[in-house]
Amino acid sequence: MNTKAFLRPLTTLLTAGAFLVAPMVSAMTVGFSQIGSESGWRTAETQSIKAEAQKRNITLKFSDAQQKQENQIKALRSFIAQGVDAIILAPVVETGWDQVLREAKRARIPVILVDRGVKVADPSLYLTKVASDFVEEGRLAGTWLAAKTSGNCKIVELQGTVGSSAAIDRKKGFTDIIDLFPRMSIIRSQSGDFTRSGGKQVMESFLKAEDGGKNICAVYSHNDDMALGAIQAIKEAGLKPSKDILMISIDGVPDIFKAMMDGETNASIELKSDLGKPAFDAIEANAKGEKLPKWIKTQGNLYLPDTAKQEYTRRHH
Ligand code: AHR
Repeated sequence: MNTKAFLRPLTTLLTAGAFLVAPMVSAMTVGFSQIGSESGWRTAETQSIKAEAQKRNITLKFSDAQQKQENQIKALRSFIAQGVDAIILAPVVETGWDQVLREAKRARIPVILVDRGVKVADPSLYLTKVASDFVEEGRLAGTWLAAKTSGNCKIVELQGTVGSSAAIDRKKGFTDIIDLFPRMSIIRSQSGDFTRSGGKQVMESFLKAEDGGKNICAVYSHNDDMALGAIQAIKEAGLKPSKDILMISIDGVPDIFKAMMDGETNASIELKSDLGKPAFDAIEANAKGEKLPKWIKTQGNLYLPDTAKQEYTRRHH
């Protein structure tokens, strides 16, 4: 048998093999530095990014920072050392990123921010941000509460993680509105770190400090999980959340719709958690040389108990 004839079946085999194997070859490798799993919303966001990577046959290197910026910086450095094609970063706090982002830029690795923002001296240190407008969310919450109480309400505020853009901007947007109403004020404000247990603990201390809660008109919570913890604390104090104390929070997770159905909360502003698609769209567009806006905005609505059942069902099935 001559060499060509000998090689022919092998070539056919290899071609067939290549055909079978080709779709399994990863298109690119992306590092994802996630904050942690402090809330139901965060878990949903992680799922969205993992699922979208899988759908696009992208190898995703995932790192959970357990709410610590130092862990995120370590993860970013490890992604850079491994030579990933892009990095997705959900930054726990706003500041302290310049140095590591400079290292990524030097290595020509684009960084896409998801959900939260950063404050850096040079905006070219990241490619784009896929996120909602937290100031607008705060304004929406303040507007709803002002309308509900005719501009007369003593509020306790459950803040998110100290130093996070989500907490800073949601506070700002809310105060922008209530400052317009002389009889609206925040009488207590503390961080519950975006967790259910944090929300419960802080609410317990607010209730104690405010005559068992008699002095409190409403809770403004920077996320649903803390509101759910606060609901527990209010019930244990013998009061009815949503009636004795009004409740408004942000995220629109399934559990908050369940609480609305049970008559235990009044309103939630949706924060879209399906950030996988827009984040990978941005990475792929950049790889093709397309120009991207600096902020790819996502938008959510205000939800009230009248549509809670349908929203809960929609999110569960
Ligand atoms: O940054 C967004 C916030 O972070 C969400 O509202 C909260 O649930 C999460 O942990």
